[in-house]
Amino acid sequence: PKVVSVNSPSEAAEKTSNMIAEMLVATPRITLGLATGSTPIPVYQDLVQRHRDGTLSIAEATSFNLDEYLGLAGDHPQSFRAFMDEHLFRLVDMNVSRIHIPDGLATDLDAHTKAYEKAIAAAGGIDIQLLGIGSNGHIAFNEPGSSRTSRTRVVELTSDTIQANSRFFDRAEDVPRQAISMGIGTILEAKRIVLLATGPAKAQAVKDAVQGDANESCPASLLQYHPDVTFVLDAEASSLLQ
Ligand code: F6R
Repeated sequence: PKVVSVNSPSEAAEKTSNMIAEMLVATPRITLGLATGSTPIPVYQDLVQRHRDGTLSIAEATSFNLDEYLGLAGDHPQSFRAFMDEHLFRLVDMNVSRIHIPDGLATDLDAHTKAYEKAIAAAGGIDIQLLGIGSNGHIAFNEPGSSRTSRTRVVELTSDTIQANSRFFDRAEDVPRQAISMGIGTILEAKRIVLLATGPAKAQAVKDAVQGDANESCPASLLQYHPDVTFVLDAEASSLLQ
């Protein structure tokens, strides 16, 4: 993978939003793959700022989010849908009918996950997929052990992911134990991938992903099989790279 290391988290976010904004300006009808979590918040802030400045429209784009907690409605404050509404969707000119995120309340999960994959294909595939990385190397909610060919499906969260995500909930017991997540196979079909990682908690996972063997024990290392991946890192997240 290509590695771009900069000093601060804000510089890393700016590099990432530049890549996305340049693609949107060149091809407004693009399909975006989007991520939640703390890391991409400054990326979304930057895209919102460009929209306010009048230099960026996202009106023609289609989007697919990586994942959603199973059992949470889209208007539940801790759902990923609510996160995206708050940090991006409500603040820019995106067309709601072209926004896609798994439905945490879907009842026929097999049909729902298959339809999600079909919708990605019908949109022509994802042109640029934004990713974060878990400190255990997960991408989306593909925890260690997830197969390279996995598709959108229901997944179990590991206890360290539940622990990490409990910061958004009142109590750790409130964190859902399962999620709907794009698979690694789904992610690897995106035409271009940008993984943003900042802070010391990501340094080991970044090292394993970039310089370790490509295998299921570090899901992000499977990105080594993709021809166009860029890791954008701040100094702390890149500190263990040799
Ligand atoms: C988010 C997602 C996760 C996060 C990862 C890092 O949609 O799928 O894989 O990217 O857990 O989260 P933060 O950025 O909060 O450290």
